[in-house]
Amino acid sequence: MNALWVTHVMPDYESARDTFSWRRERSRLAGLPDGGINIGYEAVDRHLREGHGERVALCCVARDGSVRTVTFARLAAESSRFAHVLDSLGLKRGERVFTLLGRRSELYSTVLGTLRAGRVLCPLFAAFGPEPVALRMELGNARALVTTRDLYERKVAPVRSRLPHLRHVMLLDPGADPPPDTLSFPALTAAAPDAYTVSPTDPAEPALLHFTSGTTGTPKGAVHVHEAVLAHHVTAAYALDLHEGDVFWCTADPGWVTGMSYGIIAPLTHGVTTVVDEGEFAPGRWYGILADQHVTVWYTAPTALRMLMRAAPRGEPTPAARHDLSSLRFVASVGEPLHPGAVHWGREALGLPVHDTWWQTETGAIMIANFAADPVQPGSMGRPIPGVEAAVLACGEDGRAAIIDGHVQILQEPGSEGELALRAGWPSMFRGYLHEPHRYEGCFADGWYLTGDLVSRHTGGWYWFVGRADDVIKSAGHLIGPFEVESALMEHPAVAEAGVIGRPDPLAGAIVKAFVVPLPEYPPDIELRHDVLAFARRRLGPAVAPREIEFVEDLPHTRSGRVMRRLLRARELGLPEGDVSTLETYRPAVTTEPSGKDP
Ligand code: WT7
Repeated sequence: MNALWVTHVMPDYESARDTFSWRRERSRLAGLPDGGINIGYEAVDRHLREGHGERVALCCVARDGSVRTVTFARLAAESSRFAHVLDSLGLKRGERVFTLLGRRSELYSTVLGTLRAGRVLCPLFAAFGPEPVALRMELGNARALVTTRDLYERKVAPVRSRLPHLRHVMLLDPGADPPPDTLSFPALTAAAPDAYTVSPTDPAEPALLHFTSGTTGTPKGAVHVHEAVLAHHVTAAYALDLHEGDVFWCTADPGWVTGMSYGIIAPLTHGVTTVVDEGEFAPGRWYGILADQHVTVWYTAPTALRMLMRAAPRGEPTPAARHDLSSLRFVASVGEPLHPGAVHWGREALGLPVHDTWWQTETGAIMIANFAADPVQPGSMGRPIPGVEAAVLACGEDGRAAIIDGHVQILQEPGSEGELALRAGWPSMFRGYLHEPHRYEGCFADGWYLTGDLVSRHTGGWYWFVGRADDVIKSAGHLIGPFEVESALMEHPAVAEAGVIGRPDPLAGAIVKAFVVPLPEYPPDIELRHDVLAFARRRLGPAVAPREIEFVEDLPHTRSGRVMRRLLRARELGLPEGDVSTLETYRPAVTTEPSGKDP
């Protein structure tokens, strides 16, 4: 069966690429009866219109392993109820609804209801602490929030006074004696009608807001529009080999772009069944889901694969021996470099290679992939999706693409290294950074979108990831902005200054490490370190807070006063310190104690 599906999708990469046109692909979408494109309509309504309402949309696996299925008809009804709730609360078109939720079926009805009702959805990561949550809701002018009582009380209630525009907080489980100024999601939705007509939606209307981290300033709110669904749909077919009848499992957290584009939108537009894992990561549990739910296409991340590799070291019986993984046809990875070892391990343990895919919050959908129809090139991210034009650009001294008289310089020579750029104009391209038009414009030059990633391209058009051109940290697949972490650390009364880097880690790719300059009256001892770590964890949440702190007397600065994270990183890794011509001050660490673990 495998070979048949695969060849059916892309007989050959070159001809698919040469004949591709987004305009022609548009016919894959249903389109709204009254015109336009609406993501929610493509994900739900179209299947009812085509008579497939009874197909299973979601297969929810609870923590205890019990399984509950939700049909497309049910998803349409539930999301209709939520769409009516938004109407009756008086939210205007384009106003933003935030979610702070783990993976559960109400997340799907909230997202789809919001999109069908023409409001903008912004997901937040449930492992964020109160500070990142408040900052993003402030920046995004959150009008409504759907969350649980526990998450609300821990992460939102303490910062609610900062959010005057947040009018409606809906709790999935308000319980007896609910917190003040909250609404009951179950009561509101139960009272609402279960049919909703999606009104005409302009393909260029905002649909989604995803926050991502930069190296300076506030988090960036990347705005995506309804026509992005064309790219979600098409890339899921080309790069993830999705077909009718598939059971698809995307393990990404719904608080990030992968969890939205491929955890929710893309599989639903294909009318396939999506596994919703409501539990935590555990190797046995994950293999159990793959086997018991007969997952056919699996989309996961290198950190998860590394954790599975650890659980079944070489030489021990492979999990496939204990679990029947024979339904699994295609495995893909995203978010961080996929080392060749993981590809080989996949072949041994799962009986399939792992296909790498590359993209970003800003690109909205997969842009480069090891395609279904191609043999996997271990170590390479793959080749651009048909309809996407990529290039390697020559870099200047700052390590970013050099722009001379408004022009970029494309490197053609195989093997040359530079910044990865994509020709602007694919449907899921972000349309702005919220409130920051200049930052947005700065991402483009000469008709190209500059990704901030360094890559090399080899013969045949295969791209290899080299590194980031900036200071952002990738930990367990999540982007973390050093500036956001530094700002939180500096709110601690003992901290004079902080510089934050990613320290390589065999499991997570990188962990957040902070160099902290304490104020003179605070001795840099173990107690202080634990206190600062605990403080950062409370504010930022465990996923963002530093795992390690090292006290230093001073931090290296550029003449313009910015902390030179590049130098901190070079010193940490024992690398040559490179160009330090703009270095102002630098002194080594004052403490020699081993760095502390989580308190
Ligand atoms: C950054 C984007 C990918 C969507 C979810 C994360 C890194 C992504 C790969 C890959 C090496 C990768 C890049 C990119 N990245 N995929 N296959 N190999 N690095 O989106 O949080 O915006 O992160 O993740 O550095 O720029 P994001």
